Amino acid sequence: MKFPFQISTAEQLEMDYKKSISNPEVFWAEIASHFLWKSKWEKTLSWNFEQPLVQWFKGGILNITENALDRHAAITPNKTALICEPNNPSETAISFTYEELLNKVNQFAHVLKNNGAKKGDRICIYMPMVPELAIAVLACARIGAIHSVVFGGFSAQSISDRINDAQCNLVLTADGAYRGNKSIPLKSVVDEALLSCPSVKTCIVLTRSNTPVSMLKGRDMWWEDELDKVNQMENSWFDAEPMDAEDMLFILYTSGSTGKPKGVVHTIGGYMVWTTYTFLNVFQYQPNEVFFCTADVGWITGHSYLIYGPLCAGATTVLFEGVPNYPDAGRLWDICDKHQVNILYTAPTAIRSLMQAGDQWLDGKNLSSLKKLGSVGEPINEEAWQWYFKNIGRQICPIVDTWWQTETGGIMISAIAGITEAIPAWATLPMPGVQPILVDENGNELEGAASGNLCIKAPWPGMIRTTYGDHDRCRAAYFSTYPGLYFTGDGAMRDEKGNYRITGRVDDVLNVSGHRIGTAEVENAINMHTGVIESAVVGYPHDIKGQGIYAFVIVSDKHHTLDLIQNDISQTVAQIIGPIAKPDKIQIVSGLPKTRSGKIMRRILRKIAEGDISNLGDTTTLLDPTVVDEIVLGRKK
Ligand code: PRX
Repeated sequence: MKFPFQISTAEQLEMDYKKSISNPEVFWAEIASHFLWKSKWEKTLSWNFEQPLVQWFKGGILNITENALDRHAAITPNKTALICEPNNPSETAISFTYEELLNKVNQFAHVLKNNGAKKGDRICIYMPMVPELAIAVLACARIGAIHSVVFGGFSAQSISDRINDAQCNLVLTADGAYRGNKSIPLKSVVDEALLSCPSVKTCIVLTRSNTPVSMLKGRDMWWEDELDKVNQMENSWFDAEPMDAEDMLFILYTSGSTGKPKGVVHTIGGYMVWTTYTFLNVFQYQPNEVFFCTADVGWITGHSYLIYGPLCAGATTVLFEGVPNYPDAGRLWDICDKHQVNILYTAPTAIRSLMQAGDQWLDGKNLSSLKKLGSVGEPINEEAWQWYFKNIGRQICPIVDTWWQTETGGIMISAIAGITEAIPAWATLPMPGVQPILVDENGNELEGAASGNLCIKAPWPGMIRTTYGDHDRCRAAYFSTYPGLYFTGDGAMRDEKGNYRITGRVDDVLNVSGHRIGTAEVENAINMHTGVIESAVVGYPHDIKGQGIYAFVIVSDKHHTLDLIQNDISQTVAQIIGPIAKPDKIQIVSGLPKTRSGKIMRRILRKIAEGDISNLGDTTTLLDPTVVDEIVLGRKK
């Protein structure tokens, strides 16, 4: 279907941008009017960044699945909504038309309801990238339950922390997941997590890998059995639950610079409008194009641009179960050819690793269907950008480098494919509705070409509403550093034309392969190891991952070899957070560089980890400057 708010020229973009800033309420009310509402909202926008309070389309009644499914099933029932490519290329891909996907979602909505789930419940989803994952997410939305998807690479401890924080009563999982040549025993990880989750009453388990699992009577149900019950119904239609635009749609946990991950909350109406609007405009999606976002649904990119944005826009979206280098480094290109993908949206880390694997993996691949390319999750270096442009885009596909965050819900700063100029390694211009500003350390606004901390001045429909169960944490994390502004945690440069280049986090958050990991979180996990006295974690540039994790650790363990201790520490981190947070380098040290007041001087550790040891700055204020020499000598290369 064609949406009238799709921008088609640079002039129109400029005009729309101006309108969106001078009168955001009129601008977004017009855009929102092109969606399906059961009844219209009472007030387009209420906001106040001090509290913070942000409400879009409050009082409007809708169900996002009617926008993502029913309206397309009514107009284009046979259009392919979802193409699912399995991990193993010898298995058959499965596709669903809009009509079929709607039926599947209706059926699973009944399964949820039959198991006691209702509007407002929190449901944890820990699943492989299979069709049932997308169906489960949408079925939650259909019944008005709040989904909390946990990435399949997180540990039992991370799952139980998230379940307990949100007080989930239902868990959806699978026996196991295939990822490349590995099989991950999801259910047994969930079993371990549920030992400490009293709120969970039911766990529904999909059969995927045929891994033996334990099934607890009264708690665990097989997905297939539950579906069989629904299939015996004469009519499995499910009336979508009427929801307020400001009801919660989902919680997604993300790392910050302090404490445990925060449950970022997005609400229904604004998120729907924002993801659909940005999807259609940034990628210039045209009817019948096939869109392939390689992100996992466990991250925000998967929520916004694999499921909600594309489906609300009536697009065809590809869900890939596996990894880019299995069975070989040509897999993504095979998928593009096989499913005639027109738009590919992936992360710099994948581009760099496929670039490093060598151009031979492109031999004989037909990439002629590709028309547009996207990048997301971390800064893309110029070399990777050029390789992507030349080898994948055949020097004709525009690349959009899209900057955004879990908290922003959708793309904030990006080129518009084929309409605005792409500049390698620059995200370029803000989307309509986005008012970025750069500030110095003291919060003074910087004008013109400048470098500073990136903040956003005014609300946009897809922004974070709260952090689940702790609104004050939301205020403290995003709205208190610079009062009156949303602070992104990123540093950025701006040129005289107003283009932005994101330079990376300015807080203690790492970006490892596009995944956000807090240094404090990794330190806490390392410190859980019995032989560890203290640790400090910093990031360093990594050729493939963007950033690697470097841990400096003081140990008390005298009985084991250093190698063994390092492996044990890695194992502990995998156990507490998940394998994605394992340090790339662990250096055992006898002391850490601390000021006289006991604060660790991370600046020095960062320089050592980066290998920039010629100028460590002033170390005279340290309690014991000699530890620095020892650390430099023992540096891991
Ligand atoms: O540092 C920025 C980086 O990723 C962070 C957000 O991470 P997350 O919430 O996990 O969401 C990732 C997917 C949207 C940002 O604070 N980041 C994201 N996109 C870019 C980026 N850095 C540079 N360029 C980008 N295009």
